[in-house]
Amino acid sequence: MALFISGFVQAQTADLSGREQALERIELKIDRLLSQMTLKEKAGQMLNVGLPTILTGDYWDARDSAVFHTDRFKKMIVDYGVGSIHNTPGYLAGKEDWYRMLKEIQDAAMNESRLGIPVLYGIDNIHGANYIKGSVMFPHQIALAATWNPALVGQTAAITSYESRAASLPWNFNPNVDVAATPLWGRIAESFGEDPHLISTMARAYVQGAQQTDLSLPVSSAVCLKHYLGYGAGNNGKDRANALIPERHLRQYFLPPFEAAIKSGAMGVMISSNAVNGVPCHANKYYITDILKGELGFRGVVISDFSDVEFLIGAHQVAADMREATKIAVNAGLDLLMNPYDAKVVDIIVDLVNAQEIPMERIDDAVRRVLRLKYQLNLFETPYNHPDSYPEFAGEKHVSVNYQAACEALTLLKNTQQVLPLPAGKNILVTGYGAHSMNLLNGAWSRTFLGRDTQYNDPTKRTVLEAIEAHNAQGRTSYVAGTDYLTDINTDEAVAKAREADYIVVCVGEIPATEKPSDINELALPTVQQELVKRLSVYKKPLILVMLQGRPRIIREIEPLSAAVLMAYYPGQEGGRAIADILYGKVNPSGKLPYTYPKYSGNLLPYYHKKTDIRDINWGFDGFYPQYEFGHGLSYTTFAYTDLRLDKEQFSGDDSLRISITVENTGDRPGKETVQLYAKDLIATVAPDVKKLIGFQKIFLAPGARKTVLFTIDASDLASVGLYNEWRTETGTFELQLGGQPSKLIRKKIVYHSNNKQ
Ligand code: BGC
Repeated sequence: MALFISGFVQAQTADLSGREQALERIELKIDRLLSQMTLKEKAGQMLNVGLPTILTGDYWDARDSAVFHTDRFKKMIVDYGVGSIHNTPGYLAGKEDWYRMLKEIQDAAMNESRLGIPVLYGIDNIHGANYIKGSVMFPHQIALAATWNPALVGQTAAITSYESRAASLPWNFNPNVDVAATPLWGRIAESFGEDPHLISTMARAYVQGAQQTDLSLPVSSAVCLKHYLGYGAGNNGKDRANALIPERHLRQYFLPPFEAAIKSGAMGVMISSNAVNGVPCHANKYYITDILKGELGFRGVVISDFSDVEFLIGAHQVAADMREATKIAVNAGLDLLMNPYDAKVVDIIVDLVNAQEIPMERIDDAVRRVLRLKYQLNLFETPYNHPDSYPEFAGEKHVSVNYQAACEALTLLKNTQQVLPLPAGKNILVTGYGAHSMNLLNGAWSRTFLGRDTQYNDPTKRTVLEAIEAHNAQGRTSYVAGTDYLTDINTDEAVAKAREADYIVVCVGEIPATEKPSDINELALPTVQQELVKRLSVYKKPLILVMLQGRPRIIREIEPLSAAVLMAYYPGQEGGRAIADILYGKVNPSGKLPYTYPKYSGNLLPYYHKKTDIRDINWGFDGFYPQYEFGHGLSYTTFAYTDLRLDKEQFSGDDSLRISITVENTGDRPGKETVQLYAKDLIATVAPDVKKLIGFQKIFLAPGARKTVLFTIDASDLASVGLYNEWRTETGTFELQLGGQPSKLIRKKIVYHSNNKQ
């Protein structure tokens, strides 16, 4: 055994130094290439254009095939030597079609341009390779967060890479590591939720899954973390709005997920379109150069968001024209500019460098980073991948991971008197905006940007209605649409049908949306959908509310009318099946909320607020009353927590503390449970948060089985950002809170002694 271990360690060390040597060789290659490049060629590497720019027709034309425009193609790929391309051709391309396009682009870039540098293609394959015909489409990230299962998230990322590479797409603009600081934000669905620890853990798992052990493998793709920084914290809850983020909050909540993902090897970061404290992120040298590239040591590519250099002019009003905007953005630290429509910025960069308004070292740094990613992805050797080499594309294995992800994401929020699982052979009325819609399962970024085009839906996949029909004997399931997103269709008919039903399943939801189209002025679920539930409730039949939505839309008035509530998020292509399987008890739910579900639009706090935030009108501290708490989620079985043990109750300095707790499945079904560990600093110089998540583990237990779960924590887990914006752990008493339900956590006090002078 000992021999085996030392052999293993040696092999690992050899591997590591092999990798380091390979990375060093890459730097030498870059030195050589950089020394041969003209300024214009360097500036070309800093440009990312949209694919339609080199196609025939106008940029936003809907097409049914991609035909390269001879002159534009040559100008962009050969004359300007564009470094990178993004976007889709304007229709849903299959992997063979993508291969054809990428082959043509790379062959021209490598054989016809002077230096033969391949193009770096980036795309938003954000929940599976969603822009490739036939690929699997996973639940959106918010649903993946709700699984609390990082290993599963890693698997989805690996599959996304595999299926992206099957179409020669090596760089994904994903994962989203934004902190969803306000529930109003329309892109919550694309995030891992509100908690920095959960986001960091999932981001790490995603990066490791996507990038595998080495970016040069034909099955790994590079990630691009987005959006740096504070995108989910818009002051008015809107997309691309100004956020107010004090330095202390920046470090405590917003930076850690980026830091965790960068430490895991992320080689791309996309800058956020918003502003923070009035400074557009694309102009923020402190954020990009000092913090991201300096403090966090990021060595990858910093790319702008879509047209965001231009937005410095009209939207942010910090630059008068494109020349000034480019100067600000490049000097702030941008390496690659996503200017979709033309190559004008290349000439602007050349001019700015010649006028000594951008230093040459800045350009060399930017180009080095772009080339580094291309070398690491092995694009110089393998610029495209043949689709035939990917036999598992959308195969059974991938579909089954997709189904598992959907099942583990679905979060049972309420189940009065065990109304669920549904018994077989009953009359079920299925109704509501999401009941018979693939689009509502898939959400935005599904085949098209907003994911609303039904022509691309896979007819073999089931809607909630179809999946319920598969469970319920023929003739016992009836369907009435009821409502659309905002308008009534035939609520009267649904109400009439409800009279004959034993159970009513109402699938409410949010129209798939992202970016600006996702902005809302009202967090409550649209009135017409609430009205449907209210009217259906008159017969006092058990009503099951299924919610297909990214954001937690307020349901205060209809929740008491529902016997059961199932949060489905946007659960992806297998979501309909997973929902029905949970409703009928074939699967035991195990999802937990990755955000706080608010009850009132005037009470929108994340769970990690300050005590003073929750002082109510009676001056007591009971002013936090969400509809459901962060971490909440029910199961069809029950779990008992006993035997909490600590190896010590006091620790100091760099020491660590071991905690164990025993969990038993006390019900009669197998089930998965997420054990959550929170810490709360009782007294601190900067007012402490009421609690913060510091660890979690998801376990499986057969009926009657028990398992002891172990956590090891140290001072860093108890740390917070102090008066001088530094991470530190103050001497004092902390309360640990452990359990599976936030309302039933077991508490235990510990004392930490810092060795530092305080
Ligand atoms: C979005 C990004 C996306 C980019 C490229 C932008 O408008 O904000 O999330 O990656 O477009 O499609």
